[in-house]
Amino acid sequence: MAYSFPMANHIFSVWLLSISLSKTLLVLADPHTYIVHMDLSAMPLSFSSHHSWFSATLDSIAATTTTTTTSTLSSSSSPSKLIYSYTNAINGFTAILSPSELETVKSSPGYLSSVKDTTVQLDTTHSTQFLGLNSNSGAWSVADYGKDVIIGVVDTGIWPESGSFNDDGMGAIPSRWKGECEEGFQFNSSLCNKKLIGARYFNKGLLSHHPNLTLSMNSTRDTIGHGTHTSSTAAGSYVKGASYFGYGTGTATGVAPRARVAMYKAVWEEGAFVSDILAAIDQSIMDGVDVISLSLGADDIPLYQDPIAIATFAALEKGIFVSASAGNNGPYLRSLHNGTPWVLTVAASTIDREFTGILKLGNGVSVTGLALYPGNLNPSQAPIVYVGACENEVEANKTDRKIVVCLDKNDTLSEQFYTIQSSNALGAIFITNKTDLESFMQSTYPVLLLNPQSGKIVMDYIKKLEHSEAKASMKFHGTRLQTKPAPRVSSYSSRGPSYSVPIVLKPDLTAPGSLILASWPDSLSSASIKTGNEELFSKFNLLSGTSMACPHVSGVAALLKAAHPEWSPSAIRSAMMTTSENLDNTFKPIQDIGDDNKPATPFAMGSGHVAPNKALNPGLIYDVNAQDYINLLCGLNYTQNQIQTITRSSTFSCSNPSLDINYPSFIAYFDGNDTKSTAKVVKEFKRTVTYVGVGSSTFIAKLTSISGLNVTVTPKKMSFESKNEKKSYMLRIEGPTTLQDQVVYGFLSWIESTRKIVVRSPIVVTSLASTVGTF
Ligand SMILES: *[C@@H]1O[C@H](CO)[C@@H](O)[C@H](O)[C@H]1NC(C)=O
Ligand SMILES: *[C@@H]1O[C@H](CO)[C@@H](O)[C@H](O)[C@H]1NC(C)=O
Ligand SMILES: *[C@@H]1O[C@H](CO)[C@@H](O)[C@H](O)[C@H]1NC(C)=O
Ligand SMILES: *[C@@H]1O[C@H](CO)[C@@H](O)[C@H](O)[C@H]1NC(C)=O
Ligand SMILES: *[C@@H]1O[C@H](CO)[C@@H](O)[C@H](O)[C@H]1NC(C)=O
Ligand SMILES: *[C@@H]1O[C@H](CO)[C@@H](O)[C@H](O)[C@H]1NC(C)=O
Ligand SMILES: *[C@@H]1O[C@H](CO)[C@@H](O)[C@H](O)[C@H]1NC(C)=O
Ligand SMILES: *[C@@H]1O[C@H](CO)[C@@H](O)[C@H](O)[C@H]1NC(C)=O
Ligand SMILES: *[C@@H]1O[C@H](CO)[C@@H](O)[C@H](O)[C@H]1NC(C)=O
Repeated sequence: MAYSFPMANHIFSVWLLSISLSKTLLVLADPHTYIVHMDLSAMPLSFSSHHSWFSATLDSIAATTTTTTTSTLSSSSSPSKLIYSYTNAINGFTAILSPSELETVKSSPGYLSSVKDTTVQLDTTHSTQFLGLNSNSGAWSVADYGKDVIIGVVDTGIWPESGSFNDDGMGAIPSRWKGECEEGFQFNSSLCNKKLIGARYFNKGLLSHHPNLTLSMNSTRDTIGHGTHTSSTAAGSYVKGASYFGYGTGTATGVAPRARVAMYKAVWEEGAFVSDILAAIDQSIMDGVDVISLSLGADDIPLYQDPIAIATFAALEKGIFVSASAGNNGPYLRSLHNGTPWVLTVAASTIDREFTGILKLGNGVSVTGLALYPGNLNPSQAPIVYVGACENEVEANKTDRKIVVCLDKNDTLSEQFYTIQSSNALGAIFITNKTDLESFMQSTYPVLLLNPQSGKIVMDYIKKLEHSEAKASMKFHGTRLQTKPAPRVSSYSSRGPSYSVPIVLKPDLTAPGSLILASWPDSLSSASIKTGNEELFSKFNLLSGTSMACPHVSGVAALLKAAHPEWSPSAIRSAMMTTSENLDNTFKPIQDIGDDNKPATPFAMGSGHVAPNKALNPGLIYDVNAQDYINLLCGLNYTQNQIQTITRSSTFSCSNPSLDINYPSFIAYFDGNDTKSTAKVVKEFKRTVTYVGVGSSTFIAKLTSISGLNVTVTPKKMSFESKNEKKSYMLRIEGPTTLQDQVVYGFLSWIESTRKIVVRSPIVVTSLASTVGTF
């Protein structure tokens, strides 16, 4: 099982190192930490709580195994074995068990399933404007900026002193809140306030794997930065004069600036384990959060083993909205995680902002490129030389104290970047065709990335002169707004279909994820610059990844929850999906950087780019309740134990198994596996929509054609008299047994012309095999 923290950034290589360290340590232990799911209905009445039942179960197996085995390690028995006893997220516990103890647990009453605890690799000023949020109208004013909605973030902790968590103007903490501000190392409870209303940390799982570990920061304080960034993106307060060393200067704000933040730290510099993530989600449900934001995920595992899928089912049942990142393993199809039917899965895209630097040549001509170097070129002018591909070692005397120009002919920018980093060049100009450059911009030496057109100007200048005469200067810290086209889906963003449940189209939508400016802990060298013997730190950092896209959607969910407290999590998701934008700011289809800037398919962007103001008035809602999801699990032919591991209840009913869930999108597999006698295959989908508008309305169906297929909808018109009225329709797709193209797609839109409401759903038809993952 591979986990990833969806973040595309160089600076986190440090983080990846610590993960591999914990993996090697892990091998040493013979008894292992297990997560065990139990059937609470099998609990004998004599127990006062499930906690005492779990403890007793463990005590009894400790007794059994020490008497039946001739172990000399009898001292290793009992109470310390129980690491966590969960209440909400799962019915079960985490414990350290030897192989024989595990066998005994498996035969004890109420045992459902178990998995080994595993490591979890962890995958602004302007993005709110880009989302169309403004103080005059729309979601911010209607939702009062997300007032009093509580967003729980499971992440690396928080830097409470950051300006984004100031509570100026915030009212009293909602009385329903049951959370706490836990004390810990360099973290006392007075650090929480009316913005940051909860701070807890979970490391018992981590410590069960490494009992002698000394934690560098044994508290909710964030020493990685990721959690400070994601939580300030979702719900940060206003901070004037925010920037990353002068880039992106402006007033920083979260998407829901009046929502509350509760941080649940379960990801540590020393490692991260599923058992701790589960404990964090468990506690957040207990504390009473309204939204859970999960910028982390589990790759390539079936739904009934995916801890995040399992834990979030309980959240769904309690009406808690969950958004989760799609992962950073793009642009390949089927690279997506968190493709769980009951969470909103978020892809990442660019915004209409670029960070720039200027190269001024000795002849007075200037060219502009992309840059994020925090400092300045020193000295301000230097000789400029063309070096070539810069893939292999460069001759020292060619580059010494010079600006070197490298041409990226072979798409080897990473190698070139590191070659020059280890040379003694003053700065570098990389001429490249690549357009997904976010991970190269935050350089530790002066770097400017030029497109081939600008590159040619530089090359021509150098060619005309003797090397010794060619000179140039570099200027940094530029910001350009309203750049076009935007958004574009970022190449790192993971693509669908979902591994675990391919019959539900994923991701659900895309949100700003590239070069997002948000808060950063003080004094982290990952956002610093050394000038002489002084190190300057930035309180804001620019990060890229689906990790950054996810909290944008969590913030939008908080706004919708504040505006429509009665909406279910799936209603909120539906509103965001059906009102999302599929055109960019040039009114052309949103492009996919990972696919040569061709129009992005729904496997890249889901329904489209989240549009919070439109999501306030979606017209129609595709609602899904817990029983509908259970019907889906039944339709997937999961076993009783697998289903109960997710639902936690033994009393679910499989009387209506169905693979056709009431989702606001469609995916049909024409994979050649439906070979009947006829040459045609028909796929039908039934959907039921709930009218959430005011007064009466009529919606007319509009279908875009999909080449090679006949797509129809019946009826073609739906009229509603009053709010909450439901109507059903059928979508029918007829086509050949095997599709010529791998992926074709179109849209079904229900249009209310008088109110200008468009309820749009993507339709994907694919020849990819539907038989991955779980079935
Ligand atoms: C918490 O820390 C603050 C700032 O360091 C300090 O002023 C305060 O006395 C501390 N409170 C407690 C309860 O320790
Ligand atoms: C932890 O420390 C104890 C006492 O110093 C030692 O006996 C034990 O071997 C250590 N365990 C590991 C896993 O290093
Ligand atoms: C972390 O802090 C908690 C509470 O202060 C304490 O019980 C625990 O022993 C500490 N753990 C480590 C590894 O420092
Ligand atoms: C670079 O140094 C090498 C070895 O010292 C020498 O052979 C070569 O001629 C020098 N090249 C230039 C351009 O000065
Ligand atoms: C950019 O792409 C074009 C077409 O693929 C190629 O001819 C050219 O060499 C590339 N230029 C650079 C600088 O990579
Ligand atoms: C590009 O790659 C090819 C094959 O790996 C190699 O032969 C060639 O030298 C490279 N081109 C440059 C400009 O480095
Ligand atoms: C589930 O089992 C039924 C009966 O065996 C079968 O018809 C159906 O195709 C299976 N569904 C899936 C998704 O495998
Ligand atoms: C679409 O429908 C038309 C008319 O019924 C039929 O002739 C055609 O073969 C159908 N095409 C496909 C791809 O099913
Ligand atoms: C068809 O189904 C079989 C068995 O379920 C599976 O092994 C095969 O991969 C499927 N083929 C396609 C193209 O989906």
